[in-house]
Amino acid sequence: MPDVVVTENIVGSPMDSLRGDFDVLFDPDLWKDPHKLLLAVASAKALVVRNQTRVTAEAIRAGEDLRVIARAGAGLNNIDVEAATGAGVVVAYTPDENSVSVAELALGLMLALARKIPAADRDTRKGGWARREFTGVELMGKTLGVVGLGRIGALTAARARAVGMTIIAHDDFIDAAAPAVLDLDARLMPLDDLLAQADFVTCHVPLTDSTREMFDYDGFSKMKPGAMFVNTSRGEVVDEEGLQRALEEGKLGGAALDVRQTEPPELGPLGEMDNVILMPHVAAFTEEAQHRVVASVCRDVRAVLEGGEAAAYANFASPRRPDSASG
Ligand code: MLT
Repeated sequence: MPDVVVTENIVGSPMDSLRGDFDVLFDPDLWKDPHKLLLAVASAKALVVRNQTRVTAEAIRAGEDLRVIARAGAGLNNIDVEAATGAGVVVAYTPDENSVSVAELALGLMLALARKIPAADRDTRKGGWARREFTGVELMGKTLGVVGLGRIGALTAARARAVGMTIIAHDDFIDAAAPAVLDLDARLMPLDDLLAQADFVTCHVPLTDSTREMFDYDGFSKMKPGAMFVNTSRGEVVDEEGLQRALEEGKLGGAALDVRQTEPPELGPLGEMDNVILMPHVAAFTEEAQHRVVASVCRDVRAVLEGGEAAAYANFASPRRPDSASG
């Protein structure tokens, strides 16, 4: 019976070393089959996932000997953290390890939209040389609206300031005295005001009941004509039909989406638009971030299985199951 069940493609030297010391079931397709997942979890002490595995209350109940669920990433929306907490199971995750990579992609997507890089590349490969058509805009002097000024939002804003952008921000959980606001010389404001004032909007909120579809047609319609929208957070915070309509009606200048309402998505009308950039949820996928992420989850799984404490967790550092002390 495996001690550790890995349900997605989580590889690298820290995982090799974990596999050397524990019985690990590595099945990168397991997330696709909830029934097989339940069977595998039933005997596991640790479950290691990315964002595609739905770790439901049912799966947690099935894991009678489960001590730790380790999420290789920052978002916890695919894990029933409340159920895990109720069952005394540690939820380890990696809130910091990929923030820089996500922030760098967000800035890259802003530049790609501003200079129409993907569309110009496609056209040039087809033999075009449409220099006028690919006239872009500068980021310098533009206003960036950051929705969610947490770790990733603040890192994105810092990078945007380095290219001469002014920062405005919306965040329900901080006030004007927050260090991020002061460091970035940002102005906090209600979402509607931000949408009306920003030339670029970048979204960095977690998926919760209150952020689901927080960007809809009405919101996009409030944006400045020609403004651009970037989402590297969670696809479900955007109503894609509303975005599509706003783009079709020319209310927005462009959009770049690393994340989608359904993943993987159908190509759909957004895939036909030249001012839309689509990416396959890879903001966190850099060599550096993935090494840190895998090292972090493997360290925490090892620590918990050896009777120690996780270092990065969403609920508690060591299991609270009545029988977990027995090892
Ligand atoms: C994250 O939540 O860390 C990123 O979106 C990457 C992922 O989901 O695996």
